[in-house]
Amino acid sequence: MTKAYDRVQKCYESLKDEIPFEPKLALILGSGLGDFASDLEIEGTINYADIKDFPKSTVMGHKGRFVFAHVNGLPTVIMQGRVHFYEGYKMEDVVLPVRLMREMGAKVLFLTNAAGGCNKDFVPADLMIIKDHISSLVPSPLIGENDDRWGTRFPDMSHVYDPELIDLIREASKEVGHEMKEGVYLQTTGPNFETPAEIKLAQVVGADAVGMSTTVEAMVAVHMGMRVCGISFISNLAAGMSDNPLTHEEVNENAKLVAPKFKEIVKVTLGKINEII
Ligand code: HPA
Repeated sequence: MTKAYDRVQKCYESLKDEIPFEPKLALILGSGLGDFASDLEIEGTINYADIKDFPKSTVMGHKGRFVFAHVNGLPTVIMQGRVHFYEGYKMEDVVLPVRLMREMGAKVLFLTNAAGGCNKDFVPADLMIIKDHISSLVPSPLIGENDDRWGTRFPDMSHVYDPELIDLIREASKEVGHEMKEGVYLQTTGPNFETPAEIKLAQVVGADAVGMSTTVEAMVAVHMGMRVCGISFISNLAAGMSDNPLTHEEVNENAKLVAPKFKEIVKVTLGKINEII
């Protein structure tokens, strides 16, 4: 048994009696989107701080807990607050929560994040369906001894974001009456925002949005055979694309604007996912 696998089992043992039901889907809420859970009928919560060996998040505005709720009928575990590489954790820590939610039973991972838009057609408060990602600027979370119980040594990343789930997000956003953008998400380590020259690089390699999370979580999920989809909330235009200084406050302000639409789209999508899994 690898150490990483062993650790996930220990985390699971320490919380399994608190889990109200077996979740089918895991939803990670990005910066400014944490209040998605506030109008759900919450059936249980587990604070990260109460889980043995679990990494703790330090970013303000992240609550740091698992929330359990049926969303449009779909048994869901929600992460309110994620673990970021820029906080100083090892990649093994960053992706531990995804592995733990798989251990709880989740077969689908729905990722959300706040990101800087580097596509010239994007405006702040846009929502972008993630169609693919670039993870090459951060260490792979799969480095180290492979545990075959999770997955193969050399996993295929040709189709990280599941086409059928992407279609369901498209359908949901049509029903809600909100036009979505679609594109490629690039992960940096953070915590600094990028320079304008780095954003040019991102554009040249085909990125539409840039952020500090998500791709590594998607990769371990694919490694374990989960189906993955995701939405980026464009909280700001990336460096060099507008005259505004980049601040974490801007992320939170724009999140408030788009939160109602975001919530509706995610809820309707989860209802649709419930019909196909
Ligand atoms: N860059 C990186 N991460 C981000 C940004 C950005 O402009 N906005 C929100 N998260």
